[in-house]
Amino acid sequence: MSDNEQGASSERTNPNILITGTPGTGKSTLAELASEATGLYYINVGELVKEKGLHEGFDQEFQSYILDDDKVIDELEQVVSKGGNIIEFHSCDLFPERWFDLVLVLRTDNTILYNRLEKRGYSQKKITENIDCEIFQVILEEARESYSNEIVVELQSNTIQDMESNASRIEQWVDNFKTKK
Ligand SMILES: Nc1ncnc2c1ncn2[C@@H]1O[C@H](COP(=O)(O)OP(=O)(O)OP(=O)(O)O)[C@@H](O)[C@H]1O
Ligand SMILES: [Mg+2]
Repeated sequence: MSDNEQGASSERTNPNILITGTPGTGKSTLAELASEATGLYYINVGELVKEKGLHEGFDQEFQSYILDDDKVIDELEQVVSKGGNIIEFHSCDLFPERWFDLVLVLRTDNTILYNRLEKRGYSQKKITENIDCEIFQVILEEARESYSNEIVVELQSNTIQDMESNASRIEQWVDNFKTKK
């Protein structure tokens, strides 16, 4: 087996799901709910980066950590290649394509997202940056460029009802994945 095939989707009995999207679109909220519903293991990459120091320092201008991609991949490789994970991060082009069976991109209307980010006490600069990211569909484009388009799904995340229906869609999708194996 070549390195490329190691941990490939065809070998997994439990799927790996990536939940991505602009900050504030609801990744953590959905990932936690979906993890409870499916029993898949929840990994918050942003938290892991902070906890394990998988970065090259803090960028004061952008108020965020400068990721060390190699360290992030090394840290996650073993657990992810076994399958059975829900992984959450606000970016998606750093991970190997073979890791994921489903890539969900959360989308939120601008005014709703604006209010959520303002509530968090983000600076005007950081709010504008994130709203622009959402308007220009940056993460959706990144996902489409990084993964097979068949596994990339856009999900609306404006309301609590959206969140609940997204969680039950994930639950059904996981059941279906396991039945086919
Ligand atoms: N579908 C939704 N409907 C209404 N409110 C939501 C929804 N999803 C998330 N929220 C609320 O929006 C806020 C941001 O959600 P959350 O922290 O899950 O976003 P995130 O995408 O994980 O952000 P980050 O990238 O910064 O980690 C929270 O206060 C959460 O309760
Ligand atoms: Mg989060």
